[in-house]
Amino acid sequence: MNLRVIILLLCLVVFVAGKVHRFRLQRRSHRHHKVPHAHMHLQFRNALRRKYGYTPLRTTINQASDSKGVVLSETLINSYDTNFFGEVSTGEQPFTMQFDTGSSDFWVPSSHCQVCIKKCGNKFFKESKSKTFHTDKVPFSITYGSGSVKGIVASDDVGFGDLKIQNQGIGLVNISDSCSDFDGICGLAFQPLSMTGSTPLFQQMIDQKLVEQPIFSFHLKSGSSDGGSMILGGSNSSLYYGPLTYTNVTEAKYWTFKMDFVEVHGKGSRRCEGGCKAIMDTGTSLIVGPVLDVLSLNNAIGAQHNATYDLYTVDCSSIPTLPIIVFGIAGKEFYVKPQTYVIVFQDFCYSGFMDMRGLTYWIIGDVFLRENYVEFDWARKRMGIAPAV
Ligand SMILES: *[C@@H]1O[C@H](CO)[C@@H](O)[C@H](O)[C@H]1NC(C)=O
Ligand SMILES: *[C@@H]1O[C@H](CO)[C@@H](O)[C@H](O)[C@H]1NC(C)=O
Ligand SMILES: *[C@@H]1O[C@H](CO)[C@@H](O)[C@H](O)[C@H]1NC(C)=O
Ligand SMILES: *[C@@H]1O[C@H](CO)[C@@H](O)[C@H](O)[C@H]1NC(C)=O
Repeated sequence: MNLRVIILLLCLVVFVAGKVHRFRLQRRSHRHHKVPHAHMHLQFRNALRRKYGYTPLRTTINQASDSKGVVLSETLINSYDTNFFGEVSTGEQPFTMQFDTGSSDFWVPSSHCQVCIKKCGNKFFKESKSKTFHTDKVPFSITYGSGSVKGIVASDDVGFGDLKIQNQGIGLVNISDSCSDFDGICGLAFQPLSMTGSTPLFQQMIDQKLVEQPIFSFHLKSGSSDGGSMILGGSNSSLYYGPLTYTNVTEAKYWTFKMDFVEVHGKGSRRCEGGCKAIMDTGTSLIVGPVLDVLSLNNAIGAQHNATYDLYTVDCSSIPTLPIIVFGIAGKEFYVKPQTYVIVFQDFCYSGFMDMRGLTYWIIGDVFLRENYVEFDWARKRMGIAPAV
């Protein structure tokens, strides 16, 4: 055999040996939640304010059935509309984790977290059952779109299917103020955002040579319990159309990029004209933006502000006739259809474009990612985007 053939064979072996790992995501819709959906929306709104460093608003809902109104405590926050998650093991113990490009820490509940265990029914970490566990008991706290958590920094092995990351810095949560569909969070943003001071999980995967390329990708799906997939170590071109369009990360903390514009197709109503800051966040369900921009978009799709719940409702029967929303990124256009951006909850339909007082940038969440495949290129600090299959 000549050298070229040998090299070719070696390449094939690496490829087949599969340092590109496809990781199935599960999806659970909000339909099984008992809390009225609009209440969750208000909780979600406040939790998101905290995740991005804004003060929560005190909100009172005046319901027809209860003239005294309901004051929302911050204690029960559901994972809201749709969330994408999968099984990950910590110290050989399985946990259901949310994959969040909007944070940088990996945490699971500890045996001390009463809320996690008793109220939320989450799984918890059993220190005595792991031989690889270590902690210096340094405290940490994090605030998320789904609530806030406090605990101690530790380390242990983390397993993604057949992938095993050794000595991953993890947060062991003692105190949580909220419940969600998942046990813990697996942060996929950059080190400067880490509150446990740990090397982020994906950096560890690269350092420990577990992935083919320093890239991970998300292919989110709608409509079924199959949430799509997260691909570790590369991309899968059969999951998107055409080439990826790359946009550079402008600040490697969150996955921050410059968005060129947002437009309601055919309505000539363009916002973020001339470009604005945006963050790609798989851990946020909706698309969130500055108040006036979101007002303009929602007006253009005929959504009505519902003051009771502080959200924009849409006539459910109008969905097929609503316009497409266009996102300009890196000189290309990406689309989101009304079937994706209108959130349907029984007979209550509302816009997936949410405003946030004080917000000066956009948070591009799952409403966008369910129609557009995104490759997160960790080393080159860029994102590749293409319409998803
Ligand atoms: C969490 O629990 C551990 C074990 O009991 C304890 O050492 C630590 O101080 C607790 N930390 C916080 C922030 O409550
Ligand atoms: C890419 O995705 C397609 C379609 O789901 C799948 O059949 C194929 O096995 C995937 N390829 C790899 C290398 O994971
Ligand atoms: C993106 O970053 C790369 C590397 O820093 C640079 O070469 C390229 O010009 C940048 N692209 C744009 C459109 O700014
Ligand atoms: C908001 O929506 C709820 C649920 O459909 C409805 O009962 C309420 O009257 C609406 N409030 C406003 C101000 O439109």
